[in-house]
Amino acid sequence: MPDRHILLIATYNLGKVAELKDLFGKTPVELRHLGDFDNIIEAAETGSSFAENAQIKARSYALQTHIMALADDSGLEVEALDGRPGVFSARYGGEETSFSEKIAILLDELGSAHDVHRRAQFSCAIAIADPSGKILRTVVGKCTGRIACEPRGNGGFGYDPIFVPDGYNQTFGELAAGIKQKISHRAVAFREIIPFLLDYIAI
Ligand code: IMP
Repeated sequence: MPDRHILLIATYNLGKVAELKDLFGKTPVELRHLGDFDNIIEAAETGSSFAENAQIKARSYALQTHIMALADDSGLEVEALDGRPGVFSARYGGEETSFSEKIAILLDELGSAHDVHRRAQFSCAIAIADPSGKILRTVVGKCTGRIACEPRGNGGFGYDPIFVPDGYNQTFGELAAGIKQKISHRAVAFREIIPFLLDYIAI
């Protein structure tokens, strides 16, 4: 009988694991990450949505490690660009381009579009698979806003310097990290998945 208290976070990013450790706090969930295992084969992100990619990763890593796995997939969707860069956010403009180049390409594509045409959202999908690879739950958290006319601020990462969340005038690059941690797509998704997990392990 697999131990329901052990959860694999499907990442090598220790920062992400540390953030989650904080979120799980004093709960009985014991976290593992991909670095705890040898010979892991990387799951190809071939899905056409964030949810599909999160499910592909959760299923693959649960099957490889034989423990319950949580995987996430996230990115930026710009309305006037028909949802691009979307699932290609990390690969937009080529795998090797820096984020300042990706941002420049995006701003160029968007041109001088007026504010109403600069609507955008960050999405974060999280999927959990049991050790047999069965998907137990998928949630998608969103943070809506607009694309600024030029990059502003040095905080955060990725597209943060050009994303202005609704209710604010500053970009995620300018806002205090604590604000992003409360309102981001990732925060929304994790707030939804954690009660599910706690219920699941309590059974
Ligand atoms: P991943 O799902 O963590 O691999 O993220 C995919 C890509 O989406 C990242 O490389 C970034 O380009 C973008 N992205 C996801 N979340 C954020 C965010 O909070 N700020 C800025 N960019 C993000």
